Amino acid sequence: MYTMEMINEAASFIRERLVQLPRIGMILGSGLGVLGDDVSDPVTIPYSAIPHFPQSTVEGHAGQLVIGELEGRQVLVMQGRFHYYEGYEMDAVTFPVRVMYQLGIRDMLVTNAAGGCNPAFTPGDLMIITDHIKFFDQSPLRGPNLPDFGPRFNDMSDAYTRVLQEKALQVGRDLGISLVRGVYAHMAGPSFETPAEIRMLQILGADAVGMSTVPEVTTAAHAGMRVLGISCITNMAAGILDQPLNHQEVMETGALVRDKFASLIRGVLAIW
Ligand code: HPA
Repeated sequence: MYTMEMINEAASFIRERLVQLPRIGMILGSGLGVLGDDVSDPVTIPYSAIPHFPQSTVEGHAGQLVIGELEGRQVLVMQGRFHYYEGYEMDAVTFPVRVMYQLGIRDMLVTNAAGGCNPAFTPGDLMIITDHIKFFDQSPLRGPNLPDFGPRFNDMSDAYTRVLQEKALQVGRDLGISLVRGVYAHMAGPSFETPAEIRMLQILGADAVGMSTVPEVTTAAHAGMRVLGISCITNMAAGILDQPLNHQEVMETGALVRDKFASLIRGVLAIW
């Protein structure tokens, strides 16, 4: 259980190292963390140095914050994120979001790799997330409410901020990047879903499925933060095509569309 004190200690540690405070927090999945390398005048802080910050478990992924300017915006980029399937408690997965809020960040951009449940989708599609379905019973907000962030029972009707969705669609049109829109379902993983689970998700209205994002967005929405979420459809979800799923395919498709995805994000930042 993270207390207000722990969150504030982490935020103070970061703030002391900055000249300018970031305005937009970016949690970049699916290999997009490289965008952090393009931040100008960066202040880089390894997660291991920050009090109470969870540590990355993935080998070769140091895990660090990169804070500076990108497309004229002051951003905080998380290079490396935390997933529930790695063994973190939900409130550890979302600890960085609360630290961002205490730094004064009110806007968050989150990206991920996802499986396509909507048969009209094709691997390589970029999907603006319009809403989500959560399938974990442990909410990151479970436990005593921290009223500095938001109320006990918070509204989720506009968790994916409509004006930011519109901006992303506009950038897509301007840059000739075709975008789809849809509902993202969170499954705990780490196994990919079964074909029966995917048929269930389709019936329930999911267009894409993945193992991240929803905890962070739930926490951001609690604090009234504005959120833009974008999924890269890296594969068709289990059972849709007559072929097995593997992480290799997810990584390969992610790499193929990385430039397109990065252009979209830069474009959105420029008009944020
Ligand atoms: N399921 C869950 N998570 C994913 C998938 C998938 O098919 N593809 C990429 N992340």
